[in-house]
Amino acid sequence: MKSHHIHNVLLTSEQIQQRVHTLIDEIAQDCEAENLVMLGILRGSFIFLADLVRGFSQHNLHPRVDFIILSSYGAGTESSGTVRITHDTNEDLTGADVVIVDDILDSGRTLSFAKELFLKRGARSVRTCVLLDKKTNRAVDMDADYAGFPVGDVFVVGYGLDYDNRYRELPYIATVTFLEE
Ligand code: IMP
Ligand code: MG
Repeated sequence: MKSHHIHNVLLTSEQIQQRVHTLIDEIAQDCEAENLVMLGILRGSFIFLADLVRGFSQHNLHPRVDFIILSSYGAGTESSGTVRITHDTNEDLTGADVVIVDDILDSGRTLSFAKELFLKRGARSVRTCVLLDKKTNRAVDMDADYAGFPVGDVFVVGYGLDYDNRYRELPYIATVTFLEE
């Protein structure tokens, strides 16, 4: 791991919670309660998805919940764009209204792969929901239906997002500054 500082707080816990509640309302307005499936992409989505679904009961939404793990492979830090399923869901998605949940939309490859996959499996609709949107980094044409906050081209951790699988536990989002060796 490179030496680094967890630098300034970009989004406080309170800001995140407020926005999550408006996202819950938006999703509840759009989605049919009948056959809703919330599919989180591990590991980054676990806290965000947990907060989202806890707000659903007051909207009388009782979705099925599951997670998948996807890995992207490529040379160096710029992934070449091959996404692979490492852990799949067994949920029957025929006719389902799926909401894919991820921590951050970056190149767009992960979400666009997941969306196509679930549509091929017969989902009636597939929407995407991310906490953060790095709009300037897109490699493929992909937009989230629900996006919490836009972020610039910085590396962030907290609220599920990691650096080397650490700092996921932070209740806020902070930027990481890498120090010269
Ligand atoms: P992409 O949109 O396919 O490039 O993939 C997005 C994934 O890259 C996310 O699910 C994160 O795991 C990871 N990621 C991108 N930017 C960051 C960041 O700033 N901090 C932590 N993880 C990130
Ligand atoms: Mg991730």
